[in-house]
Amino acid sequence: MKKLILALAFVPALVFASEGGYRLDHAPIVPTDQLSLQAGAKTFVNYCLNCHGAQFMRYNRLTDLGLTEAQIRDNLVLTDAKVGDTMKVALTAKDGKAMFGAAPPDLTVVGRSRGADWLYTYLRTFYRDEKSPTGWNNAAFPSVAMPHVLWTMQGERSLQVVEDEEHHGAAEYKWTQLTPGTQNEVQYDTTVRDLVNFLVYMGEPSAVNRKRLGVVALFFLGILFIFAYALKKEYWKDVH
Ligand code: HEC
Repeated sequence: MKKLILALAFVPALVFASEGGYRLDHAPIVPTDQLSLQAGAKTFVNYCLNCHGAQFMRYNRLTDLGLTEAQIRDNLVLTDAKVGDTMKVALTAKDGKAMFGAAPPDLTVVGRSRGADWLYTYLRTFYRDEKSPTGWNNAAFPSVAMPHVLWTMQGERSLQVVEDEEHHGAAEYKWTQLTPGTQNEVQYDTTVRDLVNFLVYMGEPSAVNRKRLGVVALFFLGILFIFAYALKKEYWKDVH
């Protein structure tokens, strides 16, 4: 019995540890906010597309975000790609692997595979680590091969993990700001929120429209039901 209680006491700690041990923050994204999506797209093409592609996403699909093709061409196509092209990356998987030890994966559907909360946490929890080849490590993705590409905005931080004996190894995380970034914490959270909003949109570009259509369809079904019911009453009124 004692063993069982002991085992049960460890269950939460194990569940906790399974996701790299770091508690995920809730991503406050609003999928219908077009300004947020536009800001996220801008950050994505400037800071992510050098290493990661989004090969299932075409630039001109971004008219979804309330932009014209001319605006997309002028602001979001930073390579010699045409506005009808997919978001390809010049870096090959092989070069990426040679450079970083792991190939940067395509990010078109990462919003679905990792989820918004994970992405929001991941992009905000890089810290300086001298032992890592890039000089960076990450609380949500320990020993990650990706450097902190947004560090000029967030500044450099260090992380100290304090094991908590009383709570069976559940750790306490202590962040220290080493150098300031160009953005304060609130601004940086907003930058990442917009970027994650965009990553989630890419994973399912029609999600907002699909949900809107669903509501319209249900509305019409409701109307149809009223007519069908009235008709049924009309047909049966002489039978009884
Ligand atoms: C300098 C190249 C480089 C840049 C720029 C870069 N990344 Fe990465 N990224 C990588 C590498 C390499 C990995 C693979 C890490 C690993 O497997 O350890 C990675 C992994 C990731 C992952 C984890 C994917 C998964 O499911 O395992 C996400 C998410 C990600 N990057 C998002 C971004 C975003 C968003 C940006 C832009 C802000 C960005 N990256 C910019 C190199 C880069």
